Amino acid sequence: MRFEFCLSHKIVFGKGAIGELGVRVRELGKRALLVSGRSAMRKTGTLEKVIALLRNCQIETELYDKVEPDPSLETVEKGIRLAKERKCDMVIGLGGGSALDCAKIIAGIVWQEGSIWEYYEGREIEREGIPFIALPTTSGTGTEVTSNSVLRNLQDKAKKSLRSRYLTPYLALVDPELTLSLPPEVTGYSGIDALTHAIESYVSNAANPITETLAIYSIELVAGNIMKAFCNGEDIDARENMSLASIVAGMSFANSGLGAAHALAHPLGAKFGVSHGVACGILLPYVMEFNIGTQEEKYAQVAFALGKEKKGAMAVEAVRNLLQKMKMPEHLSDVGVERGCIPGMAEDAKDAASLRGNPRPATEEELIDILTSAY
Ligand SMILES: [Fe+2]
Repeated sequence: MRFEFCLSHKIVFGKGAIGELGVRVRELGKRALLVSGRSAMRKTGTLEKVIALLRNCQIETELYDKVEPDPSLETVEKGIRLAKERKCDMVIGLGGGSALDCAKIIAGIVWQEGSIWEYYEGREIEREGIPFIALPTTSGTGTEVTSNSVLRNLQDKAKKSLRSRYLTPYLALVDPELTLSLPPEVTGYSGIDALTHAIESYVSNAANPITETLAIYSIELVAGNIMKAFCNGEDIDARENMSLASIVAGMSFANSGLGAAHALAHPLGAKFGVSHGVACGILLPYVMEFNIGTQEEKYAQVAFALGKEKKGAMAVEAVRNLLQKMKMPEHLSDVGVERGCIPGMAEDAKDAASLRGNPRPATEEELIDILTSAY
């Protein structure tokens, strides 16, 4: 057995943890670029609270609240320009996966020579950027503890995950109270994203005993809490456990990689604007069915962690039950995908890094078969 396992720099977790923001980052400098989405954080009052917490510790805030779902390279470029002009010492991402991924890459490359387009095309990040602090307000993406950033290229309508150890957050400040205002729909699809991370990580052909232990724990957390959080958004214990599930799954997949559901989810998001968690939910059961013969024992463990009988097929049934209870789409035809686009999506997915973790190698034709069955 041989493996490597890396962790994010620091995680501060717990109800009310956001109150520590200023003291946790004041040693980093005097000016922060605060990156968030366009409105949600303003509506909940969280944005003002974060700015006040920083001000109380003599940190000025430069607000960049222009991040759209699935941030484009242009959005990243504008953020980099602002961070440079204002000579920001750190970047704080506040929001869901899109805001955090945008903030993360801005911090990572702001003072590097290359442009965002070059890094998107594969140029390596060669050294540390400025510190990135993640303040997640959803529970699912795991980006608060991972070293990748998913970005969208508007020119070729593609999404890609940029990876570098230099993108690891300096601090993940995870306060489950920030997720209390999430509507049920977002709770559902971000939770299914976390579940997909955990299951794909657990069965990945690059899994190791540590990632497997984390992944199974995350699956158990999702199984025990996602419906509670979905049905009653104010259930702080369920929210806390879902925030934990997101982190734990993120720590796992950052080391094991993912699988075919994530490889196929990216073209679905980039070409049809399907939310990432919704795409994962549609694809996961079909990818599990494709893989199950090669990992029967592991899928049986997944079924057990999901509260079902210890049989591989029961894991698929458990995931489908969850999707149905939360009324999430189960077919590509439910989300506006045209059948004729399936071959193009398979072609886009065949070289995705996530596919390398899939326990059963999938050819382009087999990816077409998976998408066709999910249609
Ligand atoms: Fe994901």
